[in-house]
Amino acid sequence: MFPSEIKLGVGTWAWGERLLWGYGQEYNKTDLSAAFRRYLNDGVYFFSTSPAFGEGDSERILGEFNAQTPAELLIATKYVPRPWHLRRSDFMESLKQSLLRLGLNKLDILEICPPTGRMTISRLADCAAEAVELGLVEQVGLSGMDAHQIDSFNEALSRFGYSIACLETPYNLLDRSIEKNGVLDLCHGLNITVLAQQPLAMGLLTGKYNTEAPASGSRRQLMLRYYMPRLDILLRTMNHIGLENGGKNSAQVALNWIARKGVVPIPGTKTLAQAIENAQTPAWRITPEQTALLDTLTGKTEVRGEG
Ligand SMILES: NC(=O)c1ccc[n+]([C@@H]2O[C@H](COP(=O)([O-])OP(=O)(O)OC[C@H]3O[C@@H](n4cnc5c(N)ncnc54)[C@H](OP(=O)(O)O)[C@@H]3O)[C@@H](O)[C@H]2O)c1
Repeated sequence: MFPSEIKLGVGTWAWGERLLWGYGQEYNKTDLSAAFRRYLNDGVYFFSTSPAFGEGDSERILGEFNAQTPAELLIATKYVPRPWHLRRSDFMESLKQSLLRLGLNKLDILEICPPTGRMTISRLADCAAEAVELGLVEQVGLSGMDAHQIDSFNEALSRFGYSIACLETPYNLLDRSIEKNGVLDLCHGLNITVLAQQPLAMGLLTGKYNTEAPASGSRRQLMLRYYMPRLDILLRTMNHIGLENGGKNSAQVALNWIARKGVVPIPGTKTLAQAIENAQTPAWRITPEQTALLDTLTGKTEVRGEG
């Protein structure tokens, strides 16, 4: 089971990722270290990474920071099936490399990404169960799977007596597809904690970026999917809601809206200032009326499991 007291985690895609996020130019390891320490100071200790982020540098940086603190973190990383992964040993090798980069003997949560090639759902569940039995992994999670895949994986894993702790999936005010495609309901029904990737729509919901002032580099292209007509009205409303809640900003409102849905946001963070703002998320809540207003502006859908 994913710890129910965790209401916020930290996404680390940008840690060491140069091309997409500008690591080494716009921000550096000192910034990340300050953000990391601030999160711990504010009681946020869940960090999610992947061997795919910065070609392993995200895991390396997180491992380095972890080694420098006496605090106990909860760390999740991913297994990403590659087309050339054919055997169980490929899975184990990938996991061992992640453990090495993170400086751990045992991982808290291994999130399995969608199947490819020979790495079918059933083989992935076998491998994940073996990793738990070998004491390399405490809990199994998923990342980016659809409702059918989650259901099948759950069935395969339950044969070993294990359950899925969490699912990482994109979720934010501009992408509410998990409310409509069955993923959110299924996860609530199976007691799988949903972790929202891209809770700020890659930064768009902070209000910093728009068509006149887009993000730089290749992020600009990826962010395009989140633009919606009348985004300016949504952002103005979010700022207004923030003001009504003691001077919060639109990023903080965006994270709160997710928390209201019973989902745990894992905002990507590059700087101390961002960590300070994001870490405040669990301490307050937008009202049901404010949630409903944001629901209406972004396409109303009923969801269960409000937090
Ligand atoms: N395939 C995968 O495995 C996958 C895919 C996507 C995401 N994820 C996970 O989900 C996490 C979150 O998604 P994400 O990082 O892509 O996007 P996000 O959380 O929606 O946005 C993060 C970006 O927004 C800006 N930001 C964050 N807090 C802010 C604040 N308080 N004020 C102003 N700007 C702020 C920062 O960029 P700027 O300062 O440059 O604006 C930051 O890098 C990832 O880090 C990763 O762990 C996983």
